[in-house]
Amino acid sequence: MLTEAAARPRTIAVDLAGRPYDIIVGRGLLAGAGQRIAALKARRVAIVTDRNVAAAHLSTIERSALAADLAVSPIVVEPGEPSKSFATLAEVSDALLAARVERGDLVLALGGGVVGDLAGFAAAILRRGVRLVQVPTSLLAQVDSSVGGKTGINTGRGKNLIGAFHQPSLVIIDVDVLKSLPAREFRAGYAEMAKYGLIDDADFFARLERSTNEIFAQGPALDEAIAKSCAAKAALVMRDEFETGDRALLNLGHTFAHALETAVGYDGSRLVHGEAVAIGMVLAFRFSAFLGLAPEADAARVAAHLASVGLPTRIGDISGEVAGPEKLVEMMAQDKKVVGGALTFILAHGIGKSFIARDVPAAKARAFLESLAAA
Ligand code: GLY
Repeated sequence: MLTEAAARPRTIAVDLAGRPYDIIVGRGLLAGAGQRIAALKARRVAIVTDRNVAAAHLSTIERSALAADLAVSPIVVEPGEPSKSFATLAEVSDALLAARVERGDLVLALGGGVVGDLAGFAAAILRRGVRLVQVPTSLLAQVDSSVGGKTGINTGRGKNLIGAFHQPSLVIIDVDVLKSLPAREFRAGYAEMAKYGLIDDADFFARLERSTNEIFAQGPALDEAIAKSCAAKAALVMRDEFETGDRALLNLGHTFAHALETAVGYDGSRLVHGEAVAIGMVLAFRFSAFLGLAPEADAARVAAHLASVGLPTRIGDISGEVAGPEKLVEMMAQDKKVVGGALTFILAHGIGKSFIARDVPAAKARAFLESLAAA
């Protein structure tokens, strides 16, 4: 049972010039979402969601919006990554126009990262931009993709290649919805949460190490960790909204992760994004140690903690064959653009001491991966 203080929603203010917004983190928030949305002074809210999330949560949020005198238009897409496509974007855009969503109205994204990115991009381009409310229902979306304004779809040439920065006007994070999240998805979201400690907050990482049991039991420490993660992301976004500098720190582990996801053909039965990030973060720390930049003990500590919650931490933890060092470096080079044979990585001097390294020779990355393969 949560204490009254723990049950009180927390508010994180994202103070972007001219476009400030709040992230509300708490329990049971879906049932009261209508009032918070109505306070944004819209007439109509179009709720974009997927079939699975709709079955679990659409009626709650719809009832709440109707009770707050909002007109409601639900738009339901198929669950899964294929919905981040031009075809589904066209369907959603047409449904928004058919529902007569006007400039003063709102698009509400109710779902995980796929729905948030798709609905967010639809909101960004509908009538040259209508306001967006994010109501994320996966841990990964709650601590990462719903905050910061990145929206978009995939194409045959890669993921998230078409999109826009479109900040939400409100983010409502109802921690209770995580009760029905599959354990694997919860762990995957946890990896992104741990990332904030590894980037620049060693105390937060230590707190996660101490609170793992309570977080996985979904006790009050989970609410606190989600709020802390959102505040960490908000701070980086406020510093560098359009990723010309420090926001790139959020890509810790992602250079390795994207190569591994590409190597398994984005087969989610072998590797989901958060798992790839877990392996990628361990590799980033091991690579930092390999280059003499970080203590080996810190890399071992990162690996031990992520493994302790059941996350994969080594390339060998991925089922089936995975490409070798040469091929993985080639994939990283495609993903991140090589400049004169150099790659960009987020490396670290230790836990909580990450930095952007824009000039890492591809040959060093290859030598590092070969050293792992030989070990
Ligand atoms: N997920 C990384 C970012 O929002 O910048």
